Amino acid sequence: MTENNPTNTPSLAHFMDRRNFMRTSVLTGAGVYLATSKGAVAQAESGEKGLTAAIVGCGAQGQRLFLASNELTGIKLVAACDIWSYNRRIVAARIKAKYGSCNEYETIEELLAKETNLDCVIIATPDFLHAPYTRLALQAGKAVYCEKMMSNTIEAAADMVKAQRETGGILQIGHQRQSNPRYINLRDNVLNGNKLLGRVTHCYGQWNRGVASSAPLTSKFPVEPAILAKHGYASMEEFLNWRYFKKYGGGPIADLGAHQIGMFNWFFKTTPVSVIATGGVDYFDGTANTDGTMKPKFELPDNVQAIYEFKTPEGITRAYYQVLTTTGSQGYFEKLMGVDGSAVISEQASINQVYKEPNSTKNWNDFANGDNPVLARSRDAVYHKVWEKPKPWTRPDSWMDVPKTDSRVSKGLETWELGATMAGAFHAPHLDNFFKAARKKDPSILTCPVDDAFRTCVTVLKCYESMASGAKYVFKPEDFIV
Ligand SMILES: NC(=O)c1ccc[n+]([C@@H]2O[C@H](COP(=O)([O-])OP(=O)(O)OC[C@H]3O[C@@H](n4cnc5c(N)ncnc54)[C@H](O)[C@@H]3O)[C@@H](O)[C@H]2O)c1
Repeated sequence: MTENNPTNTPSLAHFMDRRNFMRTSVLTGAGVYLATSKGAVAQAESGEKGLTAAIVGCGAQGQRLFLASNELTGIKLVAACDIWSYNRRIVAARIKAKYGSCNEYETIEELLAKETNLDCVIIATPDFLHAPYTRLALQAGKAVYCEKMMSNTIEAAADMVKAQRETGGILQIGHQRQSNPRYINLRDNVLNGNKLLGRVTHCYGQWNRGVASSAPLTSKFPVEPAILAKHGYASMEEFLNWRYFKKYGGGPIADLGAHQIGMFNWFFKTTPVSVIATGGVDYFDGTANTDGTMKPKFELPDNVQAIYEFKTPEGITRAYYQVLTTTGSQGYFEKLMGVDGSAVISEQASINQVYKEPNSTKNWNDFANGDNPVLARSRDAVYHKVWEKPKPWTRPDSWMDVPKTDSRVSKGLETWELGATMAGAFHAPHLDNFFKAARKKDPSILTCPVDDAFRTCVTVLKCYESMASGAKYVFKPEDFIV
């Protein structure tokens, strides 16, 4: 796992919001996080090498990555590649509007053949194309940012590891939480550095996405059947819903779960010893809805619940994860629960809370001071105030005390927030880390190197073995080694 190594930590000041930035900039004199073309010029003038980049796969995520790249300096997007002209033109038009021109390609082969001065390739295609496209781009000498999950098969993910080793190239995998200053603060300062949560016995993660967001897409602008067939798609319905078919994707547990299950590994800097999982195609099974409309028929489970066991130096930690595609209830977040405290975090900045257990002997106020506080509590420093048991600052502490006679309800926990916050696009720090590594030609500074991401891919996909056998899957050390 990526260690708590300062060289692997992105320049956090660039991605913190005003509250943190003001503190940080006073302390370090750090530059403002430049988001304008003026910024790019300033960076170019400072002698930093500008990089050219192309986006391959211009769908929802390709478009998001373009927007995130707008927050960075010292890069120039020059090309968009997609077999679907509709999506390709959206990204090409945005690149052209920002950088003055954009070359368009249907295939990555054409892109690599014609864009001889290209430095970087950003791959945001369906998962089954990650391995072959990463190999092609690395072999062509490009630095590669490839979206998560690495692949829908462990074999193809292993080939990505091999391609990186063979070429020695830069390969960042898109588990962007690993560059997020809020997550880094939780892992390095709250959980590990200061051990504020004590021994973490349990974790929880969920991504609940309602039917409206999980339902199949339709398009007024279908891809020509000949192009679909040429690129291996059986139909427009499978092309649009590639996530739910084994041939192209890994199902919601890979699509959504990979982000959060990967965090369990990353928090504990290890891999699990076992997983037991259940799930199925329980809703999107091709039957009729009550209103007579037909549900799509998916191949991969539309819901998965999994329990992982980790052996940490302090003892066993059990991590429960669920991904549901029939309810958006409580959205998505991850939670660490220790004997001294618990923390809940999500990419959504409003989920950012820490709770102190009564038996914690540490004075948490000591961690809420200074320019970059690990925790925040003072009335002005706390942003979100969405605790599980709200405890308004104006009320006395006794307000949340449970009557001592009632043994069913635990005493309300002391409520805090994580000190670090982040402004801007979720993917910007991760892309920034990638471009820095590409500029320096130094894979060692990547926050999500390919070996890390491979372990996440194995951790996720082994759920399916447990589901198939109905038994606990016990990981072997060699599962995680290429
Ligand atoms: N990191 C994140 O937060 C995040 C979020 C969403 C998606 N993703 C990942 O991004 C990738 C894309 O997901 P999406 O939601 O954008 O899917 P999408 O279906 O919206 O977009 C995929 C795009 O790839 C194009 N494409 C398909 N085959 C191609 C080929 N042979 N060559 C070039 N382009 C091709 C499609 O036409 C489409 O435009 C997936 O790997 C997904 O897991 C990551």
